[in-house]
Amino acid sequence: MADLKSLIIPDKVPQHIAIIMDGNGRWAKEKGMPRVWGHRSGVKSVREVTEAAAEIGVRYLTLYAFSTENWSRPPAEVTALMGLLVETIRGEIKDLNKNGVRLMAIGDLSALPKASYNTLMDGIEATRNNSRVTLVLALNYSAKWEILRATRILAEKAQQGSLHPANIDEQTFESALSTYGIPDPELLIRTSGETRISNFLLWQIAYAELYFTPVFWPDFGREALFEAILNYQGRERRFGKTSEQL
Ligand code: IPE
Ligand code: IPE
Ligand code: MG
Repeated sequence: MADLKSLIIPDKVPQHIAIIMDGNGRWAKEKGMPRVWGHRSGVKSVREVTEAAAEIGVRYLTLYAFSTENWSRPPAEVTALMGLLVETIRGEIKDLNKNGVRLMAIGDLSALPKASYNTLMDGIEATRNNSRVTLVLALNYSAKWEILRATRILAEKAQQGSLHPANIDEQTFESALSTYGIPDPELLIRTSGETRISNFLLWQIAYAELYFTPVFWPDFGREALFEAILNYQGRERRFGKTSEQL
C-alpha cells in the first residue's frame, strides 16, 4: 500500500480539521450487532485519528460526538453514549497526556448528565497544559444554539452599553462563539456517505473544504485521514478570486 503520509505536503496540512463521525449504527447493524457496539468500536477510530492528526501537525481536531438532536434517540442508546463518554475519558487521560493532547469541549455542557459533565471537566483540567494538538469534543452541540447564544451575549453587552451595535463585526461575533481563539476548520470530513451538515459549526465552516466518504466511522482510521488530507491538498482554495489571481 502506498505510504500516504509521505505524500502529504507539510506546509499545507490543515491547522484545524472537523469531523462528523457518522455510521456507527449502520456499521454494527451490518455485522448483526447492536448499535451501541458500533459506538464502542468508534472510540478506536477517535484514538487513531487523533494520533495521526497530531503526527502530521494538525493543531485542532473537532469531533462531533453528540448533537442536541441526538437526545431524540432511544433512551437506552443515549444512556449508553453518555456512559461511553465517561468511560472513554477516564480511560484515556493518561494517554492524552502522554501524547500531548489537550481536551476541550463545545456545546451546551450544562445539560449533560452530572457524571458525564464531571468526568469531562476532569479530563479538560488534567490535559490543559498539553499543546501538541487540541481535541475539541462537540457534545450536546448545535450550531444554531451556539449562534443564538453568541447573539444573546452581544445583545446583553449592547444593552449594558459596553458594545455599540454598529461595532459588531466578524471578530466581535466570533469572540462570543464557543470556538473563540480556534482558527476555522479548513477541512470538514463526514463519514458514512451522508452529505449533510446536521447543525455542525455553521459559522466556522463558511469557507471549509467539505470531504464526504462512504466509510463508516469505525472503519475510518489513519490512512483514511491521510487520504482526506491529500484530497484537500489537491484542491484550489480561491476565496472568491479567479484561478489566475492565486
Ligand atoms: C454516529 O453514528 C454517532 C453519533 C451520532 C453519536 P450513528 O449512531 O449516527 O450511526 P448511523 O448513522 O445510525 O449509522
Ligand atoms: C450527526 O450525526 C451528529 C453526530 C455525528 C454526533 P447524526 O447521525 O445524528 O446525523 P443525522 O441526524 O443523520 O443528520
Ligand atoms: Mg448517523
